[in-house]
Amino acid sequence: MHETQALAASFTAMFGPPAALYRAPGRVNLIGEHTDYNQGFVLPAAIDLACWAAASRREDRRLIIHSANFGESVESELGDQDRQPSGKWWDYVLGVAWALQRAGYELRGANLYIRGDVPLGAGLSSSAAIEVCVGYALLDLSDHVIDRKRLALLCQQAENEFVGARCGIMDQFIACHGQAGQALLLDCRSLDYHLVPIPSQLQLVICNTMVKHEVAVSEYNTRRRVCEDGVRRIAEVAPHVGSLRDVTLSELEQYRGQLPDTIYRRCRHVVTENDRVHKVASALQNGEIGALNQLMAESHRSMRDDYQISCAELDLMVELACQQKGVYGARMTGGGFGGCTINLVNAGDALEFQRRVAAAYRSATGIHPDIYVRIASQGAGPVALPGQTAAFGPQDARTHRHD
Ligand code: GLA
Repeated sequence: MHETQALAASFTAMFGPPAALYRAPGRVNLIGEHTDYNQGFVLPAAIDLACWAAASRREDRRLIIHSANFGESVESELGDQDRQPSGKWWDYVLGVAWALQRAGYELRGANLYIRGDVPLGAGLSSSAAIEVCVGYALLDLSDHVIDRKRLALLCQQAENEFVGARCGIMDQFIACHGQAGQALLLDCRSLDYHLVPIPSQLQLVICNTMVKHEVAVSEYNTRRRVCEDGVRRIAEVAPHVGSLRDVTLSELEQYRGQLPDTIYRRCRHVVTENDRVHKVASALQNGEIGALNQLMAESHRSMRDDYQISCAELDLMVELACQQKGVYGARMTGGGFGGCTINLVNAGDALEFQRRVAAAYRSATGIHPDIYVRIASQGAGPVALPGQTAAFGPQDARTHRHD
């Protein structure tokens, strides 16, 4: 409530009273790393760190967007599809307007005031949160029915083609489809999904190493290329293989002769990680939380040794987590080379975990880490204005769900 009041007040000071408020969450991925762009499986949860927007319609065709985090505004003319990215925060916002219009959505002019508490560049999808929040707002203000799957895909297009980052679909999809208390098992090929309840005794504890190594973007793109190369080589002897999703571990062993060692190891991470996603999902589903530790440890090792996207700070954070009481699993999460770890911690032990890991990480590195004890939250949507009892959004065309 406090958040919405502050947001509405800031908006009013700049533009007059807002017509609506919107929110889209960041995410943490429980398991399934670098599998989305290989048409595999992921298991993220939306978290209660989010991007918020207060908004109103304009009579002209302009978008005026202010970011409270950056203390800057940007203006753009709707219909200007030739605008180029500038490397600034507003690329995410203007990219979404660009992608929606390219897909044929007629948009009305709008004023937006945006504020977010998803830490930037920490691997918790602050970019998907701003994209989806703005996309939802622009569609709603223009009286379009929201198709969440389409919104996620268009926000991904904005990031791939306008911003210029080659991400997969996971982040935008979970920002659109997250549900409180649940993780989401997503098939990144069909985009079918089902919800997986997170047992109430588990708390999501996210440890931010506070480092982001320079190579993160270039190495992400290199990993994608190497996986594509692996698929091409495997398909020479097994033409039915269209992505690493189609390969089992025993098949990969069979094709090993086709692959240089580095490519083989990159492929092995993706193939084994897909398998672990299903195992973690069923362990959560069946309340077998004792099985999580080993699966998450294997995932971390696979990212460290086979996919080689971890770093000393992430390895240390995982090691410190594993020494604590009440930990049911720890691994790095997100793209890698810095950012955060995800830890599944017994709710009663979470605060002690936070205190001890923070102290140990600080004494080993000299860096004070942020540690967030969060819950799985709701995906994007309108939020009640202060004084309103319910949020009035347009009809929301929920995409077909398989759960
Ligand atoms: C980033 C990308 C996602 C996904 C993860 C790694 O968060 O945006 O699409 O590839 O890295 O799992």
